[in-house]
Amino acid sequence: MKLIAAVDEKWGIGKAGALLASVPEDMKFFRESTRGHVLVMGHNTLVSFPNSKPLPARLNIVMSRREKAVPGAVVCDSTEQLLALLQDFSSDDIFVIGGGMIYSLLLPYCETAYITKMQFDGKADAFFPNLDENPSWQAVSESQEKEHEGLRFSFVKYENRAVKPLHFNGNSSAMADYFKKKSPEESALCEENACARAYAKPLEHGVTAGDVADFLAEQSGCSFEEYLWRNRFLMTKDGFLAAVSNNQ
Ligand SMILES: NC(=O)c1ccc[n+]([C@@H]2O[C@H](COP(=O)([O-])OP(=O)(O)OC[C@H]3O[C@@H](n4cnc5c(N)ncnc54)[C@H](OP(=O)(O)O)[C@@H]3O)[C@@H](O)[C@H]2O)c1
Repeated sequence: MKLIAAVDEKWGIGKAGALLASVPEDMKFFRESTRGHVLVMGHNTLVSFPNSKPLPARLNIVMSRREKAVPGAVVCDSTEQLLALLQDFSSDDIFVIGGGMIYSLLLPYCETAYITKMQFDGKADAFFPNLDENPSWQAVSESQEKEHEGLRFSFVKYENRAVKPLHFNGNSSAMADYFKKKSPEESALCEENACARAYAKPLEHGVTAGDVADFLAEQSGCSFEEYLWRNRFLMTKDGFLAAVSNNQ
């Protein structure tokens, strides 16, 4: 899993729910790095996007305990649920994109961090954990210094020498209850369902991607098909969930 962030000289990342600065080259780097990938974000970060909408052409996963559904995105209400969902994706495909709470939560699971370091003090109220003071993390490359309207910045790549594996520990009570309730009859019905069948990718711990999709549908109180439709899901050739926004 990778992480991408832009920080000021105090590792500040945001203020009053917005970014500290808008640097076109950094925005381009973000767009190009994350396009077509799986993004994990906190709800405050989603709200900071134009019209609070998920980013197009990416699978958006939003962490929230309060919001049950976000059109065009998958909502996870706990770290356990997130880790279970992430089992379906290659770790290389997943980008943690903030904000402060979610960076801190998922930092130990990330292998690589792409940090844009901006040389100014944005008087932030949201922060990224200082990687230069973290013995597990090492800067492995840094771009030449760049400048935009007087703001100097550079792209620094860090690597984590003590990555925590992304194992699902099976302790999510909501998930566990759901799978316990699943009777053989229900499973058979599920088998008859072309959509569900397309998701049936067995995972190491015995939970299928179809199970995860059903679980998410149950959480949002509608049928699996309705859930797919409401959230504008598409199936990729591998049978994975892919959410698309209107303006993809
Ligand atoms: N510079 C950058 O690269 C960058 C990148 C991204 C964001 N930002 C900035 O960062 C700021 C936002 O950061 P933030 O720390 O305030 O918020 P955040 O991390 O974006 O979102 C926090 C929210 O995520 C949900 N959440 C957190 N932990 C959870 C868990 N374990 N399970 C389920 N849900 C969980 C909660 O949502 P609910 O309250 O809905 O339950 C919580 O309020 C903004 O200023 C934004 O512009 C900067």
